[in-house]
Amino acid sequence: MKFAQSGDKTGGLIENIGLVEGLATSAPFLESENSVNTTSRLIQSFCLSIGLLSGCSWLHAQTLGQEQKEQAKSEAQPKPADLRYQPSQLPDRIVLTLNGDPRTSVAVSWRTSTEVNRGLAEIVVADDGPYFAERAKQLPATTVPLKTADYEAHCHTCQFADLTPGTTYTYRVGDGDHWSEWIQFRTASEQPDPFSFIYFGDAQNNLRSQWSRVIREAYRDAPKAAFLLHAGDLINTAEADPDWGEWFEAGGFINRMIPNLAVPGNHEMAKDAEGKSRTTIHWRSQFEFPLNGPAGLEETCFTLTYHNLRLIALDSNQMLDVQAKWLEETLQSNQSKWVICFFHHPVFSTGSGRDNELLRKLWKPIFDKYRVDLVLQGHDHSYGRTGLHVPSIEDWKIAVEEKKRLDPKGELNLPYGVQNLDPTSGTVYVVSVSGPKMYNNSRPPFMPRLAEDTQLYQVISIDGTKLRFEARTATGKLYDAFELVKAKGEINQLVELEPESSLRLRDAKPKSEAKANQER
Ligand SMILES: [Fe+2]
Repeated sequence: MKFAQSGDKTGGLIENIGLVEGLATSAPFLESENSVNTTSRLIQSFCLSIGLLSGCSWLHAQTLGQEQKEQAKSEAQPKPADLRYQPSQLPDRIVLTLNGDPRTSVAVSWRTSTEVNRGLAEIVVADDGPYFAERAKQLPATTVPLKTADYEAHCHTCQFADLTPGTTYTYRVGDGDHWSEWIQFRTASEQPDPFSFIYFGDAQNNLRSQWSRVIREAYRDAPKAAFLLHAGDLINTAEADPDWGEWFEAGGFINRMIPNLAVPGNHEMAKDAEGKSRTTIHWRSQFEFPLNGPAGLEETCFTLTYHNLRLIALDSNQMLDVQAKWLEETLQSNQSKWVICFFHHPVFSTGSGRDNELLRKLWKPIFDKYRVDLVLQGHDHSYGRTGLHVPSIEDWKIAVEEKKRLDPKGELNLPYGVQNLDPTSGTVYVVSVSGPKMYNNSRPPFMPRLAEDTQLYQVISIDGTKLRFEARTATGKLYDAFELVKAKGEINQLVELEPESSLRLRDAKPKSEAKANQER
């Protein structure tokens, strides 16, 4: 059995790190997601209904004590394995990723049981007839082990290189005896032809039952998308393998045909054996992103050029200052007309008490300086999109101080009182969500389009000097749209194309529905 060397991909790492369930608490912007003690709440409401609250306080305390004991007891016992997504000799979790020049290269990763010790891929220029397999070229894969709480697996990756631009290829993966179906993808064209891609905010929860419809609707809308872009929190529990099983099941064959790009969110952060925060062991074993970011952020911070678009993926969970330096260097040498940055935690939050001040302080001046066109984010589980003008850092500080003075106990991240908007930045910031978990939207006044309780995907199209952005709901309805037009030496021209449909905000809904959503 031959694995990659330690330090190369995940070789050594995976073998040495056991599974840590749950989330890292040291991630700087970890979401607060308090679990509700349903039993004690039921008891409380029962007591209230019969007017016995004081007597019931004792009962409540006793119940809590009992529950804590039971919880501690159940945590001490090993959990039964969740075998829903047990690997087999047949390849599954097949996913294409971009990690080089998209005109000539693409990577494919997949998973098998540990009985499969070698991975193979076969690739050939697609043909209209059925006899193409005879001409297929066979390539070896790199194999690494992945040990989860429920089972061990082997993860395989193969790099397709020296491809012909603008060409449809057929490939399959396997071990020589067990093969996937033949699958097709297309390389980027030689010249910068118009192209589109799909952007998803947090998928995260109920991936199989409720996120699947969003990615599938997005595919129906833009089946020839050049790639899929995920702004973090693809799953809920970093190293719960069934979460990843659901993510791959929801994406199905779409992931096999359209390459992915992704950054980790706080829910992809786990802890190592020493309790130190790190990206989930699933990340590098099942994706193959570029390795051109700062050391220590391999495949979580990187850059890639697709035609006239420079994509910059940042890891907002860690090492923000290191990335600020790298970001500046990357933008200094950028030759591409368009620049889109994507990461998980928003520069301007749409949620109360979820401000990311350090990130804004370190990264926004660089976005401003190099006039980054668009910033795509997640994390806040609602939708919000700025115009070109957002509060300057100075105005933001003044507004926060003013709010502290007027309301010392209030939350600080609301852009309360911000009147003066920075007219020089020229960057549009978007927060979106694709999965079913929903939060209140703090409704920043400089965001012309907002949404709550709405699952969305975004189709972004670039054609020369024009970028078109469309946010569509889970049922494919146009919810927000704008165009950016490049003007030499000036900030972009923004053309608002918001549809006339009303904003999907909670107070416009029946109370029962809004309440149910809040309690989810
Ligand atoms: Fe999230």
